[in-house]
Amino acid sequence: MIMKILAIETSCDETAISIIESHGSHTSRQFYVLSNIVSSQAKLHAKFGGVVPNLANREHQKNLVPVLITALKEAKLYKSQKQKISGALMFQCGEALEREAELAKIFPIIFKITKPIIDAIAVTHGPGLEPALWVGINFAKALALLWEKPLIPINHMEGHIYSALIHQNEKNNSKFKIQNFEFPALALLVSGGHTELVFIKKNGSYKIIGETLDDAVGEAFDKVAKMLNLGYPGGPVISAYAEKGNARAIAFPRPMIHSANLHFSFSGLKTSVLYYLRDHKKYSREDIAASFQQAAVDVLVAKTKQAIKKYGAKTLIMGGGVSANKKLREEIMKSIPDIQIFFPNLSLAGDNALMIALAAFFRKQKSATSIRADGSLRLR
Ligand code: KG4
Ligand code: ZN
Repeated sequence: MIMKILAIETSCDETAISIIESHGSHTSRQFYVLSNIVSSQAKLHAKFGGVVPNLANREHQKNLVPVLITALKEAKLYKSQKQKISGALMFQCGEALEREAELAKIFPIIFKITKPIIDAIAVTHGPGLEPALWVGINFAKALALLWEKPLIPINHMEGHIYSALIHQNEKNNSKFKIQNFEFPALALLVSGGHTELVFIKKNGSYKIIGETLDDAVGEAFDKVAKMLNLGYPGGPVISAYAEKGNARAIAFPRPMIHSANLHFSFSGLKTSVLYYLRDHKKYSREDIAASFQQAAVDVLVAKTKQAIKKYGAKTLIMGGGVSANKKLREEIMKSIPDIQIFFPNLSLAGDNALMIALAAFFRKQKSATSIRADGSLRLR
């Protein structure tokens, strides 16, 4: 059976829309990426040293319609033609976008687009920044009404898990399969807002067994970069500086590395960097970056090892923006040799809508009538 899903992701500072198509049976399914558009607002938020929720909301409102049109065109699903749309339907779409005034003004452009042949619309409903999530949700609701499609709410973190399971065809990048893996599995999800160890007993069954008690690890990278005047986002630039530095130069703490539980804490590590800068007139940004990165990676690796042992996991799945980190990848591979490990392709480690579309395929509960943004939505 051929199926097409259009997914919308606006949980943070990327406005993303992807359309994917699946062929085949449940056991041997083949996927095709028809489009995967990510419009990043990072440059805009960089001025403020981090993501500003209301600014993200406004930018998503501006970006969604053009990103949708690009996604439809790339997927060859775009046709512009005079449409017969009832006043009542236009009114309903307007109602769905009541709280997104800017988007409501641009939305009528979509009235001129022929209803695309897709089966469902998926949208991230959490976790994330609520003002950002709401734009995507309300946009998805309006589209679902207009095109009479079912609406599937997706947890952003489940998307990150799926991103690691994408196995691209070597000859044709837009073709991929989902990796088979052994249960029970463990996921280490590391991003700007989350640091979570998730136990996956079977398909679709998630249990958070460890998480950060304060800052997320990506947030720590971002804050340290800010302290060193290296801009936003901090992860990529810290890791680049770290390559030229000495990871043993400064003995930063490894918070909770020996605690019996599987939780994390990165706020103390961040503060140690701040104190180091306060107490030293001369320092090497490279050494600080390398020593900080090493401390963060050491904790992530130690806790992951501990969790694998405790839960007898046979597979490790890595996801989220920080899973792009080269040092983290190397140390995970080196320290955890005996089980199967999946990393997302570097281009899919950060936020994207392809992972949301994919998660939607595997959702059991298909359509939902009322969807709300939930900034602190948890995997379960
Ligand atoms: O998953 P993501 O794109 O967005 C959230 O859902 O938060 O993750 C973004 C985070 C940012 O904190 C960014 O600094 C971090 O991922 N990041 C990295 C690297 N690339 C991105 N952290 C460490 N090393 C990297 N190479
Ligand atoms: Zn994310």
